[in-house]
Amino acid sequence: MHSKILILDFGSQVTQLIARRVRDAGVFSEVHPYDVSDEFIRTYGASGIILSGGPSSVTEGDTPRAPMAVFEAGVPVLGICYGMQTMAAQLGGVVENGLVREFGYAEVRAHGHTALLNGINDFVTDEGHGMLKVWMSHGDKVNQMPEGFKLMASTPNCPIAGMADESRRFYAVQFHPEVTHTLQGEAMLSRFVHEICGCKSDWNMPDYIEEAVAAIRAQVGSDEVILGLSGGVDSSVAAALIHRAIGDQLTCVFVDHGLLRLNEGKMVMDMFAKNLGVKVIHVDATAQFMGHLAGVTDPEAKRKIIGREFVEVFQVEAGKLSNAKWLAQGTIYPDVIESAGKGKKGAHTIKSHHNVGGLPETLNLKLLEPLRELFKDEVRKLGVALGLPHSMVYRHPFPGPGLGVRILGEVKHEYAELLRRADAIFIEELRNTVVDPQAEKQITWYDATSQAFAVFLPVKSVGVMGDGRTYDYVVALRAVQTQDFMTAHWAHLPYDLLGRVSNRIINEVRGINRVVYDISGKPPATIEWE
Ligand code: XMP
Repeated sequence: MHSKILILDFGSQVTQLIARRVRDAGVFSEVHPYDVSDEFIRTYGASGIILSGGPSSVTEGDTPRAPMAVFEAGVPVLGICYGMQTMAAQLGGVVENGLVREFGYAEVRAHGHTALLNGINDFVTDEGHGMLKVWMSHGDKVNQMPEGFKLMASTPNCPIAGMADESRRFYAVQFHPEVTHTLQGEAMLSRFVHEICGCKSDWNMPDYIEEAVAAIRAQVGSDEVILGLSGGVDSSVAAALIHRAIGDQLTCVFVDHGLLRLNEGKMVMDMFAKNLGVKVIHVDATAQFMGHLAGVTDPEAKRKIIGREFVEVFQVEAGKLSNAKWLAQGTIYPDVIESAGKGKKGAHTIKSHHNVGGLPETLNLKLLEPLRELFKDEVRKLGVALGLPHSMVYRHPFPGPGLGVRILGEVKHEYAELLRRADAIFIEELRNTVVDPQAEKQITWYDATSQAFAVFLPVKSVGVMGDGRTYDYVVALRAVQTQDFMTAHWAHLPYDLLGRVSNRIINEVRGINRVVYDISGKPPATIEWE
């Protein structure tokens, strides 16, 4: 079993990043709400505890505090921002409502050669002080350290920007080491978990497979499991992992709603049924979906119909597998943390994220969610370790309603056929075009974009081909770059790449005579057109 770091969440927007950075350092970590019980802290088995930032003010009465067991557990503790303030307040220091609020870039001077910061700096001043370039975001500040603490960092605005009680291995910083703007943040967190907490780098996906396989076997025993395979990364990796654990006790259901990308059905069947030997039921429900979508133009109504029919088809197939006791889903860790509610008392019952809404209740199946501890990049690494092809595991996201939200207005089979082919040409060209042929590491435009696809516009425009006039449909190309899909920039694809895609689509896809490129950012536009 690997060592683990417990992160208590006081409601910061960036708590997840703490877990990400710790895991990047090769150490498992989990986020739990700040108000877990003392008993939880005592039995959890953490090698170290990190207290996150948060929006509250410890100077106000009824605000979050860490369970006192945190400071009595005998393990190192790192307080970050609000975590530092509550540590100070709970151990006898004084926190004041700061008159000067500090947001953004700051330069912090390190003091006291503590085990956390010693030798870590961005530059050294003429006087020989080690300086750190950090990200600050706080109103309150610690004015007086608790007994036993010494100064670890300061800024002119925040004379106590870091403090440490090295005999108890308690450390606290007012800035945020988990964000990349704090240049040495990764080094500090790595220092904390490895050298101060004594954790080994024992969290990696190849080893995790064994642990996960054992856990799945223990959980399901000899029961049968069903899983809705969508072709997306999460359900695919979940399927491969569960299959590794229980083989033929797993049956996957792959619903083709007629709104998938070109050859997607074949690709999924080849990979899972042929190569991995997974039992997959392939349901071609195109006619059923198209029938219900006929005449419907409103995007939300289309989404609802597709979701509802999906459940319908899945339920019918699941009903045929009368021995199944479990429904497996590709829920991942960010879904779990997000649905747990942030730093609010009583709001942290962890709800399951239902990829296929409503199914567990009506099918009376227990949920199996083997990826619920993993971040997306870990899911991808796990997929590769399980033998799934890199090109599949690193695919762009694809929405559940599929091409249904990329065909504007009414969805017709004919439109879907045209769009599939245009989209495949676009993706093929992105995959075949290197961003910088001179660069040492060659990445393609597919990898340099976060999401790219074609959109079908059901309007006709006039064109000329050979000697004849055409009057055909329009396709829009969309390619974006984004970290989190909440905001996005349109990708500055090279003109010759766009030109090649346009030529090929118009020449190869009869029925389309015009291609345009979408140059809208999000906001104000969204990534999808519907
Ligand atoms: P928007 O269009 O909201 O998209 O900027 C952000 C991300 O979400 C995906 N998306 C969906 N995924 N069902 C899904 O499973 C949906 O109805 C849906 N709508 C948008 C979109 O592809 C992008 O990655």
